[in-house]
Amino acid sequence: MIIRRLASSDSIEAVTALLHDAYAELGRMGLNYTAVDQTDDDTRERVARGDCLVATEDNQLIGTIMFMEPSRTWGGTPWYRRADVAVIGQFGVHPRFQRHGVGSRLLSAAEQLAVMSGAAELALDTAESADHLVAWYRRQGFRFIEYAQWKGKTYRSVIMSKTVERS
Ligand SMILES: CC(C)(COP(=O)(O)OP(=O)(O)OC[C@H]1O[C@@H](n2cnc3c(N)ncnc32)[C@H](O)[C@@H]1OP(=O)(O)O)[C@@H](O)C(=O)NCCC(=O)NCCS
Repeated sequence: MIIRRLASSDSIEAVTALLHDAYAELGRMGLNYTAVDQTDDDTRERVARGDCLVATEDNQLIGTIMFMEPSRTWGGTPWYRRADVAVIGQFGVHPRFQRHGVGSRLLSAAEQLAVMSGAAELALDTAESADHLVAWYRRQGFRFIEYAQWKGKTYRSVIMSKTVERS
């Protein structure tokens, strides 16, 4: 498996398709995460907001994560507005490749970008009711910070954050 930045030669359509596959189960749970049904234009717009990392296996896209350094985080919540907080999002691994360590490795790569950006914290948001995700992020070292209610979402979000250090 290789983790690298999304290249201009990569297919945006493939990223969108990967996200739809990865987030389908959350959609079935009634959680309308943006990645459940975002368009290619949405993907294009979202990857332009920061650094998009991809995981590939045999040249196939199997996972992705977005990293936004502190100067590029939008102020949706007090924690995100802090000058030392970087944010990740649009994070998914193809269902066939989940539980093989791909997500942890993408997260580690984003943590290294956070350290290089000078951030002290790496934050994320997820649905409060997605117990399995909240538990997974806790096991990855994230702690509860605050709640947020994004416009148009069927769920309340939980903001979680992790102190980052050079590894
Ligand atoms: C959340 C998500 C990104 C995690 O990615 P992942 O690749 O499945 O994560 P990992 O494999 O690194 O970790 C998952 C578990 O597999 C275990 N694992 C890691 N390598 C393993 C291996 N070789 N064999 C078996 N299990 C393994 C990990 O220990 C971890 O166990 P834990 O849940 O007890 O902590 C992925 O499940 C996903 O895309 N989910 C759907 C979309 C989503 O929820 N996105 C996030 C929205 S906020």
